[in-house]
Amino acid sequence: MGNDLIRRGQERLTPALSFHTDIIVKKAEGVYVESVEGKRYLDFSSGLATVNIGHCPPEVLKAAKRQMDEMVHSGCIFRYASEVELAERLARITPEGIEMFFFANGGAEAVEGAIKLARHATGRQGIIGFMGCFHGRTMGALSLTTSTARYRKGFHPLLPSVYHAPYPYCFRCHMGMDRTSCETECMEYLERILRYQITPEEVACMIIEPVLGEGGYIVPPADFMRKLRELCTRHGILLIADEVQSGFGRTGKWFASEHFGLKPDIITMAKGIASGFPLSAFGASKELMSKWPPGSHGTTFGGNPVSCAAACATIDTIERDGLLEKAARMGEYAMGRVLEIKNRTKGIGDARGLGLMIGVEFIRPDGSPDKARLDGVMKKCLEAGLVIIECGVDKNIARIMPPLTITKEEMDKGLSIFEEALS
Ligand SMILES: Cc1ncc(COP(=O)(O)O)c(C=O)c1O
Repeated sequence: MGNDLIRRGQERLTPALSFHTDIIVKKAEGVYVESVEGKRYLDFSSGLATVNIGHCPPEVLKAAKRQMDEMVHSGCIFRYASEVELAERLARITPEGIEMFFFANGGAEAVEGAIKLARHATGRQGIIGFMGCFHGRTMGALSLTTSTARYRKGFHPLLPSVYHAPYPYCFRCHMGMDRTSCETECMEYLERILRYQITPEEVACMIIEPVLGEGGYIVPPADFMRKLRELCTRHGILLIADEVQSGFGRTGKWFASEHFGLKPDIITMAKGIASGFPLSAFGASKELMSKWPPGSHGTTFGGNPVSCAAACATIDTIERDGLLEKAARMGEYAMGRVLEIKNRTKGIGDARGLGLMIGVEFIRPDGSPDKARLDGVMKKCLEAGLVIIECGVDKNIARIMPPLTITKEEMDKGLSIFEEALS
């Protein structure tokens, strides 16, 4: 069955899709995924940072099924409760100033909407992104994505008037600086863009991942985020926080922006929002949202009633079970263990993260990225029943991102497999 399904998939699914594993799933539940051969895997990938409260959470399935019995699709023809109820919940949990929402289907779509809103509301065209960020693969989002040039290869010309400044990746600084002596040289480079390439009054927005995801699980210095907010405010530039990966409790808070006291003008979210049902959103203040008239943006499937019901239940479950606090606690515990492993093991250059968004960077003795080592470690982990995936432009960074519901025993089991695979 296994090999046959893979062969049939190769026959009929576009080769553009690349799968991280060949596991064919019979059942996924909580932190575990079971293959058709009956092998159980601990899932430290959370279905790409999406099933934040575990696979198939019962409360979410119940809410989705209830909604399915009533209505599955509206297409903006009919009004329904789950979308409004979700917007009300989001207004409560998003950073201060975010009051209204547009619902779409996936992360890239939320990013597209966010930059459209920024251009429409400001009447400006320029967009500034940060080197290493991933924002999706539709043409607008791809123009901002620079987690690797491979994603952009073959698709130029991309959106014009998009510029990129360095993301503060202090372990491997884009500016060649040293962590101990640098006073956010990246910020100075960004200011240089505004002097040499595009005037601030032509810039609609800057978009940043508050914790870098696909680009390497990198936490920026708080000072950089503070200066970025100040710079945007000074020039009337809208700041978009792309929280598609870092949101919904992944870092131990609803949104990673909160760690920096960052109040974005626009926020994007997807992945963990609905526990795997397709849904995304971007939010902004009422004042900003009221700047574009009806029809400026739209969607047939966005804000699907079933997905919205699943998202409401996801938020309720996170609140009821104290999963933010749990993720923060478990993240601290995991980071402690990962740092011990790093100290015991040659070839780990850096371990960093917030909450359950932890990156482990593999390096060769000369400090260069060691993808081959991580490939070997991931393969051994898989054999031992642990799914770990990589990130970073050189694919040499392991992501530790299990569901927030993970227990200490499950965390210990996963990290022990990880450590054994290193030897
Ligand atoms: C920060 C960020 N933005 C946008 C996206 C795009 O989301 P999607 O794949 O749902 O289009 C991703 C996906 O990984 C992401 O991590």
